[in-house]
Amino acid sequence: MNILLIGSGGRESAFAWKMSQSALCGQLFIAPGNAGTGQYGTNVNLKVTDFEGIKQFVLANQVQLVVVGPEEPLVKGIHDFFLADEQLKSIPVIGPQAEGAQLEGSKDFSKQFMQRHNIPTAASRTFTRDTLQEGFEYLATCGLPVVLKADGLAAGKGVLICLSLQEAQQELIQMLTEAKFGEAGNKVVVEQFLQGIELSVFVLTDGNSYQILPEAKDYKRIGEGDTGLNTGGMGSVSPVPFADAGFMQKVEQQVVIPTVEGLKQDGIPYKGFIFIGLMNCGGEPWVIEYNCRMGDPETESVLPRIESDLVELLLGVAEGNLQERELRISGKTAATIMCVAGGYPGEYLKDRTVTGLDNVRGSIAFHAGTTLQGDEVKTSGGRVLAITSLQEDLFTALQQATLDASRIYYDGKYFRKDIGFDLI
Ligand code: AMP
Ligand code: GLY
Repeated sequence: MNILLIGSGGRESAFAWKMSQSALCGQLFIAPGNAGTGQYGTNVNLKVTDFEGIKQFVLANQVQLVVVGPEEPLVKGIHDFFLADEQLKSIPVIGPQAEGAQLEGSKDFSKQFMQRHNIPTAASRTFTRDTLQEGFEYLATCGLPVVLKADGLAAGKGVLICLSLQEAQQELIQMLTEAKFGEAGNKVVVEQFLQGIELSVFVLTDGNSYQILPEAKDYKRIGEGDTGLNTGGMGSVSPVPFADAGFMQKVEQQVVIPTVEGLKQDGIPYKGFIFIGLMNCGGEPWVIEYNCRMGDPETESVLPRIESDLVELLLGVAEGNLQERELRISGKTAATIMCVAGGYPGEYLKDRTVTGLDNVRGSIAFHAGTTLQGDEVKTSGGRVLAITSLQEDLFTALQQATLDASRIYYDGKYFRKDIGFDLI
């Protein structure tokens, strides 16, 4: 069958790499893809939110399965668009409809969902411009630090951890009355701070049954020792040593099952990935956030550990018989190190020639922010390449990924050399 994958980052490179290995995969198209995804299929020059363009392409190329990587087209209703179209409605889309995508698209929606279904999450309340005064009163009752979250999508920047009441009050004013995060901040969730260590758990669901994919840990800060500005993610590892069987059982009972059952009870159809951002607080899982897609760079560590055919699993989602499909997971450890552009996550260098990709031997170089100019690979994004190594243990995987990351060259290249070492 012909498959269209939507997206262009390291996550989509990992999806393309994995799906292209399936005997079920006919032609694989990636829209728009990057300089690396062309190794696994055909790049198609379409924007991820160009639903009309995607429709024309799908019909002209007999696409039989659409896999959506990023959140934006899901929150904007790409799945609903397919279901509402006579010619497209029989073509399965992996990724929830807009209503289910609200788990990521609206923090207020996701908090209400968790409260309604007794899913462990930090205490919170939501405020708007009209209830600013009540927001101040609530802030005064919260301990410190306190967390402020813009309700809508804010490109990963809409969460503030405030250390003083005064800072929290000022930020609340700026978000609600001065549009600090644009429309995304028209509503603000004020939330209790959770102390613990984070991990990401991934669930694939057909809306009825589910499979829990390998968990991963993401490293968000730019600097070594988890310092400096937040980024999209500087590296990841899977499995996560502290997520042992006992902890994962709690995650399944207290979070995964109530989430899948909650969606059903609320009458929200959901076919796709649920990314659960968790805090492990003294051995108990608390939900920080949901995303309606896979994580990046977590996917680059998660998919290499899946031994089963991913297309087969996705067809289980499409056909509503996921529980009958086999999910085999490798016991090896995957480590991913992200090579980023000089200056990232601020203003960063672009259009730099990448060399040394052929020198990568014990890892996979998943392209993220790259484009092809003639035969040359050029940098085009902040996160340039995700270098993933799958090895017997965490130390060996990290060592190999670090070695291979240093075999690549472009002007301004930077990567963290401490990913995963907190877990050894
Ligand atoms: P989010 O966009 O919801 O993932 O939040 C971004 C980051 O802020 C998370 O990855 C956490 O590191 C942090 N964070 C969010 N909510 C909380 C919380 N309630 N307590 C502590 N840290 C949080
Ligand atoms: N790595 C975090 C995310 O994909 O949102």
